Amino acid sequence: MSEMDFTQILIEVSAFAKSTIDLAALQNFIVEIIPERLPYYNWTGFYMLDPNDPDTLVLGPYRGAPTEHVRIPVTQGICGAAVAQNSTVIIDDVHSDPRYLACSLETKSEIVVPIRAHGAVVGEIDIDSHDLAAFTAHDSEFLEQCAAIVGSFIETNQPASK
Ligand code: SME
Repeated sequence: MSEMDFTQILIEVSAFAKSTIDLAALQNFIVEIIPERLPYYNWTGFYMLDPNDPDTLVLGPYRGAPTEHVRIPVTQGICGAAVAQNSTVIIDDVHSDPRYLACSLETKSEIVVPIRAHGAVVGEIDIDSHDLAAFTAHDSEFLEQCAAIVGSFIETNQPASK
């Protein structure tokens, strides 16, 4: 995938983020545009920490096969690991990682990127691919920029409650 494709998506996501105050609308825009432009992104979705139970991730907008993992404790899965480590996790072969929670039998690799707002992790973007080792440093840079757009959107539109 060329850098130009990533750059163009980020331009469109940034523009959309300025046009709405609705987080779900922004998330839906992202899960629509990303797999449309990047065909090896076979499952693209958001998991956000439950404000009433901050040790649990809750499935948000997504595109791809339905998943039984609608709530994931931060102690479980690749999704939980990204929150616990507060860092991007790339798994080249999900079947070689005992933490992996299966969504689709076709999934072979996965990347999970934390979303931070108000100085803490608030959720993540999760991508699965049907290809082995589909995700490189270019994907993580791209997705970290997407996550930063979502994080600053949350800071602007959902002020921290004190
Ligand atoms: N594979 C993830 C679970 C989410 S589904 O892939 C959509 C995990 O191991 O946490």
